[in-house]
Amino acid sequence: MAEDKSPEEQMNNLAVNDDDDVVDPWNVSGKSETGIDYDKLIKRFGSSKIDDEVIQRFEKVTGKKAHHLLRRGIFFSHRDIHSILNLVEAGKKFYLYTGRGPSSDSMHLGHMIPFMFTKWLQDVFDVPLIIQLTDDEKVLWRDIKVEQARQMAHTNAKDIIAVGFSPENTFIFNDLDFIGQCPAFYQNMLRIQKCVTFNQVKGIFGFGDSDVIGKITFPSIEAAPAFSTSFPFIFDNKVVPCLVPCAIDQDPYFRMTRDVAARLKMPKPALLHSSFLPALQGAQHKMSASDPNASIFLNDTAKQIKNKINKYAFSGGQATVDEHREKGGNTEVDISYKYLTFFLEDDQRLAEIKKSYESGEMLTGELKKIAVDTVTPVITDYQARRALVTDDVMQDFFRIRRIKF
Ligand code: TRP
Repeated sequence: MAEDKSPEEQMNNLAVNDDDDVVDPWNVSGKSETGIDYDKLIKRFGSSKIDDEVIQRFEKVTGKKAHHLLRRGIFFSHRDIHSILNLVEAGKKFYLYTGRGPSSDSMHLGHMIPFMFTKWLQDVFDVPLIIQLTDDEKVLWRDIKVEQARQMAHTNAKDIIAVGFSPENTFIFNDLDFIGQCPAFYQNMLRIQKCVTFNQVKGIFGFGDSDVIGKITFPSIEAAPAFSTSFPFIFDNKVVPCLVPCAIDQDPYFRMTRDVAARLKMPKPALLHSSFLPALQGAQHKMSASDPNASIFLNDTAKQIKNKINKYAFSGGQATVDEHREKGGNTEVDISYKYLTFFLEDDQRLAEIKKSYESGEMLTGELKKIAVDTVTPVITDYQARRALVTDDVMQDFFRIRRIKF
């Protein structure tokens, strides 16, 4: 496993074989129509599977039923989650850190998954949450100006807040405004920069000789929030362990962070990794804002959602009704079914749907209708909350201040 490899090998996850799925912070695509092979990814990345034992321990420690995204293996991989659960058992605190690279496009359903789960973690553990908006990252990687990126960070913050966060225990910052105001953050960035060579970032991220130098140092900026000493106004100067819920494509940053942590004598951040919400057209691709027909946006109307699912959601059903009745549908590739695993909380109902669809009793049209009826209220409820997030509400989250800890 991972621990047997040298630090450099351990940090390097780049796809090497032709049949490897591509999963890095900039590209995600699977080779099979059933989607990414997540078990294989765990092996390649050297992380650990979230198995029944982990889920049971989660339930034991929290005294709550595990979230359906955990029960169903959508959050499927972790690093060191046991160390966090040990802390909780010992009555000690940790904090949560996650983030988003702001983009001009409206957020889609896939963006919401890690935030929905983070909200649940924050509620069950009653811990502070820090959200980083990497507007600087977008300036470096996309054709976007500094001013535009800052603007997008603020709009995106409103979208994130509407998932249900409270300024009482959540601090949100965008790099372009915050880093200059917080010397401790920059000092940690520098400590991190001093621990990582160009060779190592080339290995981890695949950077090349013609990449701009900002990209080469950027990983230190995503790493710094995983150390509590970056936020003295919240943690004084105490060393507090960190848990990062994120999509698996962000893991390279945290492999690097964990390696650096050991050398800085700081606790390694623990991680919980999610799989991706598939695009409407099929599980090979994740939902992506650049293709409007492949995605359900958080500002889509009920009518648009219905049309998109009916028209585009890839079906695992058979070509004709007779054939479908005989052979049944394939839930491994059916996108409407996959969406139900993400958004339909009732396990029993989900199991009944699976059985009925696979036996051929339930037809594709019926399954799509259930998907529409499940996804639509998730979005309309979200939209009602989003409408309440004014500039003032948003500013409260950005204020440099002590939050509940
Ligand atoms: N790089 C991430 C993105 O492009 C944003 C991000 C910053 C992030 N810090 C994070 C994501 C921590 C997860 C966890 O979306």
